[in-house]
Amino acid sequence: MKISILVGTMTGTAQLCAQEMELALDDGDNRVETLLMDRLDSSVFSREGVFLICTSTYGQGDVPDNAKALYDDLRAKRPNLSGVRYGVFGLGDRTYAETFNFGGKRFDDILTELGATRIGERHRHDASSGVLPEETALEWCQQWLGLIAEATSSSR
Ligand SMILES: Cc1cc2nc3c(=O)[nH]c(=O)nc-3n(C[C@H](O)[C@H](O)[C@H](O)COP(=O)(O)O)c2cc1C
Repeated sequence: MKISILVGTMTGTAQLCAQEMELALDDGDNRVETLLMDRLDSSVFSREGVFLICTSTYGQGDVPDNAKALYDDLRAKRPNLSGVRYGVFGLGDRTYAETFNFGGKRFDDILTELGATRIGERHRHDASSGVLPEETALEWCQQWLGLIAEATSSSR
């Protein structure tokens, strides 16, 4: 299976998590490619395979700057993504109580609206918890891969 990890980040934490997940998931059976969201548009979802959105949150619950073009393009062009399956590993900080993890939520909401199917729960990492996101990412992505495998076998 091909897995594209799409990274939205301001200061590199989400990218570090994506790198860890790529190392864990790319095992010969699965081929993983990590792409920073910079300069991507909604056509990225026509790639083969499944998608993992790995993004932080900035401003007042906004997606990071490097994710804005992709997010805005999805909202403007509204492609039919009914064949797309994805997961969300979100990063945020509970100190921002009103907008905790809204970056991941925004992508989750628009992808669902456009017909895509989320596999597994949206992960919401909390920077104020003291838990390192790259460690959680490792465990989370292995569980996610299991759910993807189940979904793939039940849809055959
Ligand atoms: C200026 C600023 C604004 C932020 N706004 C939010 C927010 O609204 N909601 C949230 O959950 N986290 C917010 N965060 C926390 C970041 O999303 C979190 O620290 C994340 O781990 C950063 O990941 P990155 O290095 O990949 O960008 C904010 C952080 C900063 C510095």
